[in-house]
Amino acid sequence: MGSGIAQVAAHSGHKVLLYDSSKEALKKAVDKLSKILSRSVEKEKIQQDEADLILERIETVDNITAFQDCNLVIEAVVEDLGVKQSLFSKMEGIVEDNCILASNTSSLSITSIAGACEKSERVIGIHFFNPAPLMPLVEIIPAIQTSETVLKQARSLIDSWYKTTVIAKDTPGFIVNRVARPFYGEAIRIYEEGIADIPTIDWAMTELGGFKMGPFTLMDYIGNDVNYAVTETVFREFFYDPRYRPSFTQKRMVEAKRLGRKNGLGYYDYGERAIHPKPDKNETMGRQILTRIVCMLINEAADALFLNIATRDDIDMAMTKGVNYPKGLLKWADEMGVAKVLSELESLHEEYSEDRYRPSPLLKKMVAKSRTFY
Ligand SMILES: NC(=O)c1ccc[n+]([C@@H]2O[C@H](COP(=O)([O-])OP(=O)(O)OC[C@H]3O[C@@H](n4cnc5c(N)ncnc54)[C@H](O)[C@@H]3O)[C@@H](O)[C@H]2O)c1
Repeated sequence: MGSGIAQVAAHSGHKVLLYDSSKEALKKAVDKLSKILSRSVEKEKIQQDEADLILERIETVDNITAFQDCNLVIEAVVEDLGVKQSLFSKMEGIVEDNCILASNTSSLSITSIAGACEKSERVIGIHFFNPAPLMPLVEIIPAIQTSETVLKQARSLIDSWYKTTVIAKDTPGFIVNRVARPFYGEAIRIYEEGIADIPTIDWAMTELGGFKMGPFTLMDYIGNDVNYAVTETVFREFFYDPRYRPSFTQKRMVEAKRLGRKNGLGYYDYGERAIHPKPDKNETMGRQILTRIVCMLINEAADALFLNIATRDDIDMAMTKGVNYPKGLLKWADEMGVAKVLSELESLHEEYSEDRYRPSPLLKKMVAKSRTFY
């Protein structure tokens, strides 16, 4: 992630210093950057001289003391609170008082990272999506301590990098990694119940729902270990709210090292001789699967709005620009009818008696008052 973010900043004309505690990782990052830029030149996306300039602007350093004159530091080290806190605390002793310290964390609390700093008002979350140069969305997450000035400066800087910024409250998963949980979790649940097999669920979500990738294809792409880790963190950080409970199916996939594309086997087989199982294209069943998963996603989006995690527009923007959803979930709710979404969730809640399916109070209020999101 670090090298991708460096590429974005350098592309916008900034001089960038790149540091990694592992020399090997740093060398790999530069090799990867050169390859990506050469490919962009071959595909005529950028000119050779522009690619050269981007590379020239990125300088690798072997010590963080080199950051002393930086105005912004974006941390993208391992997802470990202790490591991040210690790095932020060290960084404070190196940079000037007006330097913004940002974290690219996907799941840790920005407030707890800021808590390790004396001047915590300069700490903020700037969360890019992978791959950073291609994905337009960046979530900006102020900690409780972050000053208004730092929030404004950070947002306008990232906007100037031609990114779409949304503001999210510092809560587990921010917007995207919270709202998207049922895309994976509910798909796995449908599979576990034996309602449909994996290719059929993926087919329903892509062919009937318009999603670019089905849940299982996407989990294999992200890596089942990575996706499971985010699910587990979100569950724990939400004080074990059953809505976010991970599944045994996903845990077993990780235990069996069926990680997905990266090691050739996940929910699907990526080997050369693999046989690709065909979906059951029963449209009635496909629509039931799609409706169930989309209603669970809408419930998350509505609850995020209810709890002021972000605005209506930012929640819809985040899901279309961060994970390529075919449309914003709140807009989708209006199209389906908020009352239909609520009744779908209420019947799931009734059928299973599980808190996982409890409808957001916002949906109930809206139906009572016949309101729509837009
Ligand atoms: N991978 C993604 O899709 C993704 C997306 C958005 C955000 N993020 C976040 O970005 C961060 C990095 O993720 P990643 O996937 O690039 O991880 P990664 O494990 O590929 O890279 C982390 C790098 O940090 C280095 N490192 C570890 N401790 C360090 C220290 N003290 N000082 C300097 N370097 C150190 C490691 O050598 C490694 O090269 C995480 O916080 C993650 O949550 C990842």
